[in-house]
Amino acid sequence: MNPKRILVTGGMGYIGSHTTVELQAVGYDVIIVDNLSNSNRDVLKGIKAISGVEPTFYQVDCNDQQAMREIYDRHRPDGVIHFAASKAVGESVEKPLLYYRNNILSLIVQLELMKEFGTKGIVFSSSCTVYGQPKKLPVTEEAPILPATSPYGNSKQINEEIIRDTIHSGVDFRAILLRYFNPIGAHPSAEIGELPLGVPQNLIPYLTQTAAGIRKELTVFGDDYNTPDGSCIRDYIHVVDLAKAHVVAIDRLLGAKATEPLEVFNIGTGRGASVLELIHTFEEATGVKVPHKIGPRREGDIEQVWADPTRANKVLGWSAQSTLQEALKSAWKWQQKITKPEN
Ligand code: UFG
Repeated sequence: MNPKRILVTGGMGYIGSHTTVELQAVGYDVIIVDNLSNSNRDVLKGIKAISGVEPTFYQVDCNDQQAMREIYDRHRPDGVIHFAASKAVGESVEKPLLYYRNNILSLIVQLELMKEFGTKGIVFSSSCTVYGQPKKLPVTEEAPILPATSPYGNSKQINEEIIRDTIHSGVDFRAILLRYFNPIGAHPSAEIGELPLGVPQNLIPYLTQTAAGIRKELTVFGDDYNTPDGSCIRDYIHVVDLAKAHVVAIDRLLGAKATEPLEVFNIGTGRGASVLELIHTFEEATGVKVPHKIGPRREGDIEQVWADPTRANKVLGWSAQSTLQEALKSAWKWQQKITKPEN
């Protein structure tokens, strides 16, 4: 039997590249579409170094319906994993139209083409940002969706609604929304990882760049929150565990195992860690000090959120396997590789 073909939009990015290698590991044929706006061609080499197979790659913008139609027509994908999106919260406040164009139009293009070409299922990258500051922790999928605080967050909510309405209209495909918590780390081989452009906005790349001496010190954004040590709490999940959640989700869609046409899963570890705890765990796991100071709160930050992943554990048979130490070690190995290229 021919391997099933999965179209991975944004497959050259951080989560997309890790998902590609996990899909390949279980025999899927991966076709990547990515405009390289936040990645580069070297990612293909990293993927091949791990899996031995270079995926088919098109440098195409997912909003380009004509170019995308040719790709759907040529490859007739069985399923789609839609990662391609702009993801910087701060930038989205400055450039809302760019965010709405990139994040909403590209989804509509995929859904229209899936209908046209009879694609069986879509896995969509959503985010725990849809919960805002939940009243009850850990947060379940039943928690209310709160008004978004940025165009980025709003675009994720609107995308979830677009998928819900499309499924409700009776299309022939099914959908799974994965609400990610905070992905960190890199593939243990350090062949692929996160490639932040410019000054990192997220905690882990800023932390590893500080440990590597690229940044002078890390600022902890606030230590006066209502948490045990005063710093914010998140559910940090190893990116390889997150990638594997996509594989079980696409297996479920293509194996017609989904009991509902639309399913939603939290993808987190179920454990919260504070910013200060994370710095100390990194120092212990790697033996490298992270110069840091306490600064003011960052506007718009959620105080604390972590997942109740019970539904994903039970229904998908998936659970996060890596410890925080392992995830942080892998992030450090990757940072060392990109700081000191071998040649
Ligand atoms: N933090 C610092 N110093 C830094 C950077 C971050 O203390 O230099 C803190 C933040 O205040 C926060 C925690 O580290 O408490 C994590 O911050 P990140 O920016 O890494 O992640 P966020 O939880 O803010 O955001 C992430 C994704 C967003 C997504 C959001 C909610 O980056 O895309 O989760 O889903 F919208």
